[in-house]
Amino acid sequence: MVKPDAVSKGYTGAILEKINAAGFRIVAMKQTQLSKADAEAFYAIHKERPFFGDLVEYMTSGPIVAAILEKDNAVSDFRTLIGATNPEEAAEGTIRKLYAESISANAIHGSDSDENAGIEGNFFFSEREKF
Ligand code: RTP
Ligand code: MG
Repeated sequence: MVKPDAVSKGYTGAILEKINAAGFRIVAMKQTQLSKADAEAFYAIHKERPFFGDLVEYMTSGPIVAAILEKDNAVSDFRTLIGATNPEEAAEGTIRKLYAESISANAIHGSDSDENAGIEGNFFFSEREKF
């Protein structure tokens, strides 16, 4: 998911170019905006964390671009491509190093397991939207 800070700054195209260049295939994609309930559900795993309220506020602050990506070893390779959660700790050339503002507004989300990738893909897309 391209997060609201990156979409609002016009980074969607550049980020998708990096994703394509890294060998990911786009299975489904759309721009949409999360409601408060959507963001709370999507990040439910973090609901006890001190930053949860700020996270929900940020994730609902503007449009996001959701996508399902396919590649061998996709979860791990995508986490490498996006870089560390905190852009100050992200490796050179990673999407967060290039485009993130801060640990909170960090430009992009990547699923952390195959199981969550399936759940998150189904959160945004119906079966007939996946190609
Ligand atoms: P994501 O789930 O969005 O791909 O990010 P991640 O795995 O790298 O990091 P995670 O620990 O899952 O945190 C989810 C998102 O919450 C915000 N966050 N803010 N202020 C803070 O200390 C803090 N920590 C995390 C970030 O937007 C992070 O990506
Ligand atoms: Mg995460």
